[in-house]
Amino acid sequence: MTKKNIVITGGAGFIGSHVVRLFVNKYSDYKIINLDKLTYAGNLANLKDIENKPNYKFVKMDICDFDNFYKLMQDEKIDGIIHLAAESHVDRSIKDPFTFAKTNVMGTLSLLQAAKLYWESLPEKYEGKRFYHISTDEVYGALQMTNPEGVEPPFTTTASSKEHHLAYGTEFFLETTKYNPHSPYSASKASSDHFVRAFHDTYGLPTIVTNCSNNYGPYQFPEKLIPLFINNIRHKKPLPVYGKGENVRDWLFVEDHARAIDLIFHKGNVADTYNIGGFNEWKNIDIIKVVIKTVDRLLGRAEGEDLNLITYVKDRAGHDMRYAIDSSKLQKELGWEPSLQFEEGIEKTVKWYLNNQEWMDNITSGEYEKYYESMYANR
Ligand code: NAD
Ligand code: DAU
Repeated sequence: MTKKNIVITGGAGFIGSHVVRLFVNKYSDYKIINLDKLTYAGNLANLKDIENKPNYKFVKMDICDFDNFYKLMQDEKIDGIIHLAAESHVDRSIKDPFTFAKTNVMGTLSLLQAAKLYWESLPEKYEGKRFYHISTDEVYGALQMTNPEGVEPPFTTTASSKEHHLAYGTEFFLETTKYNPHSPYSASKASSDHFVRAFHDTYGLPTIVTNCSNNYGPYQFPEKLIPLFINNIRHKKPLPVYGKGENVRDWLFVEDHARAIDLIFHKGNVADTYNIGGFNEWKNIDIIKVVIKTVDRLLGRAEGEDLNLITYVKDRAGHDMRYAIDSSKLQKELGWEPSLQFEEGIEKTVKWYLNNQEWMDNITSGEYEKYYESMYANR
């Protein structure tokens, strides 16, 4: 395999840390640079197990910092960028849309321009280079619930086949689905996707874009549904269910997303788009009940004793009703499949959070931010 120098942005976040770990462990001859600003969502504790590996380097940097990123590309002779850094939480985007436009749109543009200028300055130009942008299914908007009853929670489904897909509607997001974002978060991601494609169409930059559904698994920041609820159940705190809890999301185990990213980075077609999803639709309220029962069982409580923590609250503004990704193209063209059934994935995830309570407590107690401020202030 040819040696590569790769920057992974947002590598201290949830999905990014899984991608960094996979690449560092799998490609010992690559140099993997994790570039992260360490916002509230960035946590180097996510990467303790690989931080001393010789092919790994951490750089604290804002993706909006064009000059320093351009210099990094030159100094490290970067030939691949896997771009995950973003503001990622819909609720925060509703409160503070400017930060989302700045990081997700201007930050992406800054990386694109630096990559273009540096690679164009090389004798081989774009040969062997890749700018891989990680995006979301939320850019496609929301799907109808034409079959609101769906099928009973999918305890008998396999996560990988469309025949067993728990469909709450007849439509799915395809790579060709028109963009129709509704939240400031998804609007900022849609805008960044357009810039990435524009850099291919205008300058020939070798780009790839993927749009993935909801991820779950270890190291997810506990503002997102599953880790937030696991932690609240543990502490017997209320579980704030938005609206009626009937919105549908399509869940994928985070390590399966990381494997797809590896495959697409190496084998995907330049200028192409791939949807990534687990064919695994769940209504929020059903997933919440499974999480409660799993936590109760693993903590030795009576299974279901914490169902009374469910508290219906005001709905999220502009709350998208249903997401469902059709990832057939990725499955057919590159042979990717989710590895885990949802039941296994949830069991693994709940166990991980319960076994890593210190990780959770460091974040939720506020010590986490102070720790990183003092550790990295002068780097
Ligand atoms: P996350 O919020 O857990 O992590 C984001 C990371 O980006 C953090 O480490 C943060 O410090 C870093 N970051 C933020 N602003 C930065 C800046 N200006 N400069 C440098 N670093 C910065 O996010 P996540 O859930 O891991 O999502 C990663 C990517 O995947 C995002 O682009 C998101 O849109 C996309 N995505 C997420 C999901 C999901 O379910 N979580 C699904 C599909 C796509
Ligand atoms: O679809 C991919 C997207 O999935 C990613 O692009 C985003 O970065 C990621 O955050 C996620 O977005 P969601 O808004 O779907 O995830 P979240 O965990 O915030 O919410 C999942 C569902 O649960 C959603 O319908 C809102 C609901 N919810 C969420 C929280 C935090 C609640 O009912 N209560 C809550 O407290």
